[in-house]
Amino acid sequence: MITINNNKYELTLVAITSKDSVKNPFIICKDLATTLITSDKKIYMYFKSEKINFQTLKNALINFFSNNQYDLNINLDSFPIDKKLGLEATLDAILYTNAERITYKTCKMDKKPKYNIDTKFDKAKELLNKFSIIYQYKNFARDLQDMPPNKMYPEKFADSVEAEAKKIPSIKITILKQADIVKNKMGMLLSVNAGSARDARVVILEYNGNSASKEKIALVGKGITFDTGGVSLKPSFAMEGMKYDMSGAAIACSSVMAIASLKQKCNLIAVACLTENHIGSTATLVESIVTSMNGKTVEITNTDAEGRLVVGDGVTYAIRKLSATKIIELSTLTGAILIALDNYMTGVFSNNDEFYKQFKLAALEANEEIWRMPIHEKNTKLLKEATIADLKNSPVYRNGGSSIAAAFIQEFVEDKPFIHLDIAGTATETRKISSGTGVMVRTFVELFK
Ligand code: BES
Ligand code: ZN
Ligand code: ZN
Repeated sequence: MITINNNKYELTLVAITSKDSVKNPFIICKDLATTLITSDKKIYMYFKSEKINFQTLKNALINFFSNNQYDLNINLDSFPIDKKLGLEATLDAILYTNAERITYKTCKMDKKPKYNIDTKFDKAKELLNKFSIIYQYKNFARDLQDMPPNKMYPEKFADSVEAEAKKIPSIKITILKQADIVKNKMGMLLSVNAGSARDARVVILEYNGNSASKEKIALVGKGITFDTGGVSLKPSFAMEGMKYDMSGAAIACSSVMAIASLKQKCNLIAVACLTENHIGSTATLVESIVTSMNGKTVEITNTDAEGRLVVGDGVTYAIRKLSATKIIELSTLTGAILIALDNYMTGVFSNNDEFYKQFKLAALEANEEIWRMPIHEKNTKLLKEATIADLKNSPVYRNGGSSIAAAFIQEFVEDKPFIHLDIAGTATETRKISSGTGVMVRTFVELFK
């Protein structure tokens, strides 16, 4: 699909910047516009500024490639950006837009175009190999995300991940079924599952790539295969898109597979907490009190604040049963994170500055945008105002909703360094709920390299 320095196609994509003298009057000189000049056998992409950043180039290429039908040579070194960054943006854009995605359309899709990248960058082949592996799994996560809830429920999710992870011998797969979840007293996960006709699952992928280290990091993912809100039912307009509420679980599992495939030196576990959040006569009622796996009692004041419940038990499982030394938990947790950060930044919460610093560097290296948000003791205090339980899952007071949710999960991390990623905004494409993004897979690859 992608070759390096083969120059085999007729058409070439070249960048043209404002400093170049634009001799051909037909070239559209609008920032990021493209013009095909057949006599030159070239497509010109116009850049208004002489230096562009990674995000600008990547987004321009994603836009262009999404609608492109031609097999193309890309004259990478003409782009006004550092060669390595330019190649990364190009690979990101091609591997993202050219993936064969799952579809239930009955008509045949157009064939994907082929690309050749023309560049003098000496590590181009190496980078292509690395990106091909990353995107194999990032796109696997995106397909899991996009699956409709009648075809992708906890059991199916577990089967798909097991089938894929089996291909990597260095990964140990464990799947907890309903009876195992009951045996482990994961009362918060079970309370979310109570209204569902389908059993819950916990999928665990373990990769030990560094026997010399005692460090073992758990990626705990929210895996709500559909979130109706439960008896605190969502209004219909807010329900569309809730098949994506398992994005954290999909991305956690796919990241461990990518990192194991790349044979990175680290010890890593994915813990995917899977259930539907359904309404029905057996669904958990508001004001119910449940006991979490770690022993704390929780009053369920809002059944739509279910993500914190399932990952709370997932965190306890990772610490007590799998001896995790650090926790990264990721979930499409709150609508409030969209109000704060829109669709282009993942909200990061941490109880540990050093851990956050390492994470920030990795995100920077992976070119994924993040923003640190607070967990304040005032958030925790609100949760402890339950009259006859240790915690409530959602206080009436809703301001700072994303921080309150993070504070709830923090109650289960014991003494471990902890990062919570709220991907409710970034797990799907900007302002449309039609495609999963596989956000954070690249950052995890950088963090554990
Ligand atoms: N899955 C939702 C969060 C969500 C909202 C994800 C929009 C993606 C887009 C979550 O379970 C939820 O319903 N959160 C509530 C929390 C509230 C009840 C405290 C919310 O954000 O309204
Ligand atoms: Zn919810
Ligand atoms: Zn949810």
